[in-house]
Amino acid sequence: MQIELSQCRLAFDEAGKGTPILFIHGYPMNRRLWQPQLEDLAEVGHVLALDLRGHGESEQIPGPYSMELFADDCNEFLDVMRIPKVVLCGLSMGGYICMAFYRKYASRVVGMVLTATRAAADSPTARESRDKAIDQAISQGPAPIVEGMINRLLSPYSQSNRPSLITKAHDFIDDISTQTIVADLQGLKTRLDSSSILATISQPVCIIHGEDDQIVPLEEAREMHHTIKHSRLHILPLAGHVPNLEQPGLFNQAVRQFIMEIKS
Ligand code: MLT
Repeated sequence: MQIELSQCRLAFDEAGKGTPILFIHGYPMNRRLWQPQLEDLAEVGHVLALDLRGHGESEQIPGPYSMELFADDCNEFLDVMRIPKVVLCGLSMGGYICMAFYRKYASRVVGMVLTATRAAADSPTARESRDKAIDQAISQGPAPIVEGMINRLLSPYSQSNRPSLITKAHDFIDDISTQTIVADLQGLKTRLDSSSILATISQPVCIIHGEDDQIVPLEEAREMHHTIKHSRLHILPLAGHVPNLEQPGLFNQAVRQFIMEIKS
């Protein structure tokens, strides 16, 4: 489905009814990341997964894409869909967007699922890597960035034992354009540090992290858990940076339980 916002047209999927849960994908992905959740979690709520601007089937418009800009799109999306309150579920960059959303629109948030993400901003070294990736995307196109991401996305166990997951990962990354990679990277490298808001979050938070995440170390999830008052931490065994895909049963069980508790 497509929805027209003031600045761009976004594509999204929805299923189920009840408590709204908005799924926000990571960089440089699209909403197909959430296929294992849309199929399974529609029984506990109104599940919505959107393609962020420039991604998947949403409109390509010039960047940079800051986390606040993405959060504004999500907020306007909820307005147009007439959804007053929401549970946000973001993976990696999607988690950064959840935190940006929380900074601007906290009263709309009834809970958050933060997956494979962190609160910290980029370090100077990480910013340099983003600049190199921008240069590489401009000179060589998306292919080397896509390949590099696919190689780090899955846990060593998934890579060796579950080759079908590599095909699935290609499905939610392959259609990224150079323009969107650059726009995302510009937003990622300048994103704000969200560490200081963690202690102020009063809504329940469910943190889910793969124990073998090669992109965001598990330690960062543990730190968020220690700082956010009403939080729980699920560490999913044998999973890497996309635990929702590598351990869909455990992931969905954690989210289902979280939603049931929010409802009661
Ligand atoms: C993501 O999966 O969204 C990215 O790895 C986030 C990042 O590079 O910081």
